[in-house]
Amino acid sequence: AGLAALLSTAAHADLTGKVIGFSQIGSESGWRAAETSVTKSEAEKRGIDLKFADAQQKQENQIKAIRGFIAQGVDAILVAPVVSTGWDEVLGEAKEANIPVVLLDRGVDASADLYLTGVASDQVKEGAVAGKWLIDTVAGKDCSVVELEGTVGSSPAINRKKGFDDAVGATANIKVIRSQTGDFTRAKGKEVMEGFLKAEGGGKGICAVYAHNDDMAVGAIQAIKDAGLKPGSDILVVSIDGVPDIFSAMVAGEANATVELTPNMAGPAFDALDAYLNGGTAPEKAIITESKLFTQADDPQGEYDRRKGLGY
Ligand code: AHR
Repeated sequence: AGLAALLSTAAHADLTGKVIGFSQIGSESGWRAAETSVTKSEAEKRGIDLKFADAQQKQENQIKAIRGFIAQGVDAILVAPVVSTGWDEVLGEAKEANIPVVLLDRGVDASADLYLTGVASDQVKEGAVAGKWLIDTVAGKDCSVVELEGTVGSSPAINRKKGFDDAVGATANIKVIRSQTGDFTRAKGKEVMEGFLKAEGGGKGICAVYAHNDDMAVGAIQAIKDAGLKPGSDILVVSIDGVPDIFSAMVAGEANATVELTPNMAGPAFDALDAYLNGGTAPEKAIITESKLFTQADDPQGEYDRRKGLGY
């Protein structure tokens, strides 16, 4: 309960006794695990009966779970959509049943009238913040970047790539030379980085790795060390999420920068549902969370301790 209690800033919503279904993607990353635990404790704090379904990375499981929630007649549904397409039909069924749906942390390519709102970061901005950090850091020097992309077809993978490309595309000295999915996991991040290192003559030509999340960056750090290079200096490491492990890598000088993504998407989602279910007020279509950059200069030990203290 500690994490949610400390992260939550809004007054308690009165959703006591409401039944809310939550279709979660799975547990691919440390950030995802934190979001799950915050959602559960936010629900508990507000007296919500949360029905939790883990989709194990499969959209078909999410669709099945949502149909199950509709059949149960839940008061609302939260869904973290694994990919962005293919949602029209099931969201239409929820709408037909008069059940409001709130998207968490990822977007969908579907008509906006099919869901109540979405709570997420500006993912294009996250990529741009990471790109700008690299532009400032290399200060005009040539830099060949390898990119570890998130899950294919997911909104953060699409948008974080775009934001980074838009930012560095404006500079002639920075070039993304290789790009491949690591599926947001530590194991795949390591495996793909090993391939990049091999393909680039052991890594000598690589100046930086941009990972769409911290877990893949942590995997890449291990691969760089195994190849006999120093992550954080021989190869710069920039990623997104702000999980404790990336701050401990920063303390060790092995990671350089991360863009924080709050795991507390449920707090604003429940506030929006409270206003809607109890007051009839429709929220904005997009509730955008902050995207703050942290570097080795921003007290990484303190940031690590703070997150551990919150129960991450
Ligand atoms: O949708 C948010 C992303 O999903 C997080 O950045 C990543 O860690 C997770 O898998």
